[in-house]
Amino acid sequence: MIPRTCEPIADDPLVEAEIYRDMDHTIVNRQFVDDLILGGPVGPWVVDLGCGPAHIPILLCEAIQGDGGETHYRPAQERLRVMATDVAVEMLEIAKFEIEMAGRVEQIELQQIDLNQPNALQADIADTLMCNTVLHHLDDPTNAIGLAIRAAKPGGRLFVRDLFRPASSAEVEALVEQHGGESSSAQLLRQSLHAAFTLDEIRTIIAPLGIEAEAVQITSDRHWTIDWTKP
Ligand SMILES: C[S@@+](CC[C@H](N)C(=O)[O-])C[C@H]1O[C@@H](n2cnc3c(N)ncnc32)[C@H](O)[C@@H]1O
Repeated sequence: MIPRTCEPIADDPLVEAEIYRDMDHTIVNRQFVDDLILGGPVGPWVVDLGCGPAHIPILLCEAIQGDGGETHYRPAQERLRVMATDVAVEMLEIAKFEIEMAGRVEQIELQQIDLNQPNALQADIADTLMCNTVLHHLDDPTNAIGLAIRAAKPGGRLFVRDLFRPASSAEVEALVEQHGGESSSAQLLRQSLHAAFTLDEIRTIIAPLGIEAEAVQITSDRHWTIDWTKP
């Protein structure tokens, strides 16, 4: 098993945010939203942890109109509202633009939140907390997952997806070859795979927080997903 190598600090956060925004994540983002909706109830109050350019909150709002009309996932009494959060002001600026362009300003609000800070989120505020490919950016995601659990209302849902670290460099390179795209995005994927937590590591991290091992499963050739409901 290759050891974990944490993500390097970005030389220029704006350039890195723009590279990330310009990468085409449409397929994985749609898969995230589809799996979230098919797996159980969503919202009406949703928090996205580490929202990046807010493409997932936008897709989610598009998938769940929630205007009081029928939806395929639950009887919608209330319009979906998303609090999209990120630590990087550069990313939040991009997210603001994307939300405006998508016409979702009234549904998606932005907050600067550092997932490493204790008490960064209030308790019992969300029906659903979602988080896509963020935890591998953190040296230790215990605080972030603890925040998410605390912020969930009783009966609320955590839906957290991230990459898992392959067993060998050869497997990393095979995934980079398959999914990495052109050189700058390929390098970001390579770094992310090296920084990612294995299934066993994430199960060890969530156990003391009260999330059972079965709540996290491998869900693709490079992702695991926590889908857990707070008692
Ligand atoms: C790989 S991007 C994923 C963005 C988004 N979730 C998506 O799937 O499109 C990782 C995001 O995590 C954010 N991030 C990294 N460390 C963070 C922290 N300590 N607190 C909050 N967000 C963080 C980054 O700024 C970046 O926007």
